[in-house]
Amino acid sequence: MISLEHVSKTYRMPEGQLEGVRDVSLHIPKGTIHGIIGVSGAGKSTLLRMVNLLERPDQGKVFVGEQEMTALSARQLRESRRSISMIFQQYNLVLNRTVSRNISMAMELAGVPKPERLARIEECLRFVGLEDKAQQYPSRLSGGQKQRVAIARALANGPKVLLCDEPTSALDPQTTADILEVLHHINRSYGVTILIVTHDMSVVKKICSRVSVMEQGQIVRTVAADELEAIGNA
Ligand SMILES: Nc1ncnc2c1ncn2[C@@H]1O[C@H](COP(=O)(O)OP(=O)(O)OP(=O)(O)O)[C@@H](O)[C@H]1O
Ligand SMILES: [Mg+2]
Repeated sequence: MISLEHVSKTYRMPEGQLEGVRDVSLHIPKGTIHGIIGVSGAGKSTLLRMVNLLERPDQGKVFVGEQEMTALSARQLRESRRSISMIFQQYNLVLNRTVSRNISMAMELAGVPKPERLARIEECLRFVGLEDKAQQYPSRLSGGQKQRVAIARALANGPKVLLCDEPTSALDPQTTADILEVLHHINRSYGVTILIVTHDMSVVKKICSRVSVMEQGQIVRTVAADELEAIGNA
């Protein structure tokens, strides 16, 4: 479902170049939850952002479903990205818009008619358990609630893939468990393929089927999540 074939990304800066990701190949079957772990600077976010080409690899190919992302025109890429959603550690909500408008925005861009948008907002908010917060502004919400709004927004266009960059790193253990339950529920209910970057082994153990360990821009191993203990802390 997600395939990376020999992807590399080098950052060129005045002071020299830095290989963010080096010759990574990875296949993630449809409908699974895959973890990526590794120390800070290992290249996890860069790799994640390559899946929807927010970061364009300078070498290699990226496939999502049947589509070769690296071969699409700018217009095709915009279209294709609608089926790939993202959530982040810092939620990235628009602060001067209500919860409802935050969720609506991606659908507005996609040209979804208003009655359909309103129904979908309600459905997504119900899914994350925040149906009473539609008219609130994000600043009035807790971290866990903000992440639920971000998840509702990510669901709005009915994605096939959900990319998560440290989605629980700003949350306490109980809220982390709640958010992981929501992600698991999305995977089971809609068959969404989830790729999740994390520092937290418990995240991997709770919801991932497989996990890749990154070091210095490379994937050094990919194992079943329950085999993770055998390889120690990454
Ligand atoms: N836009 C950029 N310009 C230059 N270098 C970058 C850029 N983005 C990332 N890098 C470098 O590429 C390497 C990988 O960065 P990346 O953000 O993917 O790491 P990470 O594993 O996500 O780290 P963290 O756990 O701290 O989020 C780092 O050395 C980083 O400094
Ligand atoms: Mg990162």
